[in-house]
Amino acid sequence: NEIYLAGLSGVVPKLPTDFATLEARAAAAMPPHVLNYVQGGCGDELTQRRNSEAFGHWGMVPRMMVDSTSRDLSIELFGQRYPTPLFMAPIGVTGICTQDQHGDLAAARASVATGVPLCLSTLTNDPLETVAQTLGDQPGFFQLYTPRDADVAASLVQRAEKAGYRAIVVTLDTWVTGWRPRDLNTASFPQLRGHVLSNYFSDPAFRKLLPQPPEVDPAAAIRAWTKLFGRVLTWADMPWLKSLTKLPIVLKGICHPDDARRAVDAGAGAIYCSNHGGRQANGGMAAIDLLPEVVKAAGSVPVLFDSGVRSGTDVVKALALGARAVGVGRPYAYGLALDGAAGATHVLRCLLAEADLLMAVNGWPSIAAVREAGALRVS
Ligand code: FNR
Repeated sequence: NEIYLAGLSGVVPKLPTDFATLEARAAAAMPPHVLNYVQGGCGDELTQRRNSEAFGHWGMVPRMMVDSTSRDLSIELFGQRYPTPLFMAPIGVTGICTQDQHGDLAAARASVATGVPLCLSTLTNDPLETVAQTLGDQPGFFQLYTPRDADVAASLVQRAEKAGYRAIVVTLDTWVTGWRPRDLNTASFPQLRGHVLSNYFSDPAFRKLLPQPPEVDPAAAIRAWTKLFGRVLTWADMPWLKSLTKLPIVLKGICHPDDARRAVDAGAGAIYCSNHGGRQANGGMAAIDLLPEVVKAAGSVPVLFDSGVRSGTDVVKALALGARAVGVGRPYAYGLALDGAAGATHVLRCLLAEADLLMAVNGWPSIAAVREAGALRVS
């Protein structure tokens, strides 16, 4: 309404309201190494393309003569209510998306502005405590790339719990970085050029492993971090992970129903169905096509979803297919790149507004109604 009404007086929104135009604007504005990092995926990016295109295979059927003049988009997760079913998926080194290099703080401000929770990456450019301060009362989650050193892992998790994050999201598919030609062709970790991983560098357990503090020798600290990155987790590690915290452990990267069942048996607080936005393994199926079986296998355990969500319609489809909460990655990164916190806020508000309008028109006043309506495979 805000945008339509402003349009009556000739005011055009500062940023686009659809993904394709947003991405094109961001691509024109971002430095090439940052664009490659954010936009790129694995191999020839087939899986990444499939992720978004596959939403087109699913169709929804509206209901009429239902009063949907007011909608409730809130959900319950980890024992508390969230005003929206959307969340910001973890994005590492988000700092490079904004000119001031504090992209994580900008994302936190967008979270406060919209009520959309931020899942903060281990690879945040600002220490997790600083991001938590910016979040204030707004709940967020902390994503863990499990380091090989158990003390550093424990320290990261305990810091996150102390700082007030509500869940630990353990990413399972990234103990090694996938084959990403756009990053590889620039011959380095382009995202690390000149940037400091303050979250790691401020970690007391990590600092103990270094002969010199990162402030004195940042290159050596980055080398140490590279060696530490990426513990291979197996089901046998679940008791250890759970022993580190009272917070729910969310397993990110689960796409197979058998893995979902194992996760339930192992006591996961939630299952996070995702193929990392097609950045880790190419040749895979679209994540949205795998979601229904994962949801079935998860039973009463909530399933979070991301990969390929580009519009409010996609958000509603993922909810209709059983996701409890739906994450976006690249869309908000483009928002950050174009206009910092305001840009990410705009992107999230557009996604929510489109989802809300769709629910209104389709006669679905609540997420429960969306879920009951479901979505049908049309091709
Ligand atoms: C990611 N993703 C990611 N995941 C994670 O668990 N930890 C991380 O640090 C990162 N970093 C990261 C950087 C960038 C630039 C992107 C685009 C993605 C994956 C992310 O959480 C999510 O799974 C995907 O982004 C979802 O797909 P879409 O929405 O980008 O298609």
